[in-house]
Amino acid sequence: MSRIQIQGFYPLKGRVSIQGSKNAVLPMMAAALLHRGITVLANVPFIEDVECMKGILKSLGCRCRQKGGVLEIDASFLRTCAIPDSYVKRMRSSVILLGALLGRLGEGSCGYPGGCLIGARPIDLHLQVLESLGAQVSAGCDEVQVRGRGKRKAVGGMIRLRYPSVGATEQALLGAVLAEGTTQIFGAAREPEIAQLCRFLKGMGARIEGCGTDCLTICGVKELHDSYFPVEGDRIVAGTYMAAVMAATGQAEIRGVNLPALKLPCRLLMKAGARIEKDETADALRISMKERPRGLVIETAPYPGFPTDLQSPFMAFLAGAKGESRIRETVFEDRFATAGELRKMGARIRVQGREAEIKGVWPLMGTKVQAKDLRGGAALVAAALGAGGETVIENCGYIERGYEDICRDLAALGARIRRI
Ligand code: UD1
Repeated sequence: MSRIQIQGFYPLKGRVSIQGSKNAVLPMMAAALLHRGITVLANVPFIEDVECMKGILKSLGCRCRQKGGVLEIDASFLRTCAIPDSYVKRMRSSVILLGALLGRLGEGSCGYPGGCLIGARPIDLHLQVLESLGAQVSAGCDEVQVRGRGKRKAVGGMIRLRYPSVGATEQALLGAVLAEGTTQIFGAAREPEIAQLCRFLKGMGARIEGCGTDCLTICGVKELHDSYFPVEGDRIVAGTYMAAVMAATGQAEIRGVNLPALKLPCRLLMKAGARIEKDETADALRISMKERPRGLVIETAPYPGFPTDLQSPFMAFLAGAKGESRIRETVFEDRFATAGELRKMGARIRVQGREAEIKGVWPLMGTKVQAKDLRGGAALVAAALGAGGETVIENCGYIERGYEDICRDLAALGARIRRI
């Protein structure tokens, strides 16, 4: 079990380059299945979830070769349409492979997805999408099977999402690209990773209109072609490191980020007292925090709202902020597990349903805590950097699912942090 040890209370100072985006690269890897040929992705992060997705692609028959951050996927021959259960349990996003398998082979199956334990995570919208694309869907106790009707694979259709689910929107895009006819998705998620996926698919030869909006139109094409795409920097990793600067104070230059995607988090950080300068030409920003932050009121929401994935990293620095803060989590029903760990460090956080009330305590004190999920684990790292004494974070496997090397990156900012 990997652990991270941190000596807190030292201001940060330095520069860090942000890894490629996890939530962008995973659906792109799934989309590579659509093409009977080669897809090359650059700036691919070295994280557990990418390894897991590679494992799935290989088990389906793809060849995956990675050199540095460049990943080549050759999906010329597929030998099965069944996604092994062991992978699906490890990573929730594997469910979006069903859309790609339907488009390419006309059938697919997988178990029910796993992933972080952050409340009930149904897949009803995914199933609705697959049905709208003409598939027969049979959802048994432990397996979902999809199959095109008769001799047809996917067929274009009208999809209205009652909620802008990121995964269901990706599912719909992947299923629609090779479908017969036109698909319209109303109420699509607008996260920057979706717009990136659309650009990537267009680079493979897909015909998509409305990128970046909640209404996407996809005209099915017969086949795609070889392509190359550099994955954008991870806005959530960038936001986590900004939260670390807020907790520990100091200044940092954060490079390789899509700045517009961080507009709202940056606005809130400035409200809490940070100075942020953006360098649009270099895709970089400089954040500087000289004193204890001020409290904030935050509500998570689908993009362009505040990202739920930054909720716990922000809670981490707000736990030490002046005055009171309130966070309302509207995306996932049970995403406050990290509050309990922050309390062990002295934080005063009261959780009631989907709302957390935080009375700032300064400084928090280091102790032994446990990562409860991916972003929550990273949030504990941020909190520990601002806390007095030593913190040991256990169960850091969660963090490795999404952060290439959080110790390396924060050490580059002068943090006293190491894996033990
Ligand atoms: C993706 C991100 C995750 C982020 C989340 C919300 C990836 C790999 N993961 O997850 O980091 O936190 O978006 O921005 O990109 N829902 C249903 N039925 C469904 C699907 C979803 O009710 O069929 C609900 C979920 O339970 C949740 C909400 O919709 O309450 C948002 O989920 P969704 O947007 O689908 O998130 P993911 O795609 O799983």
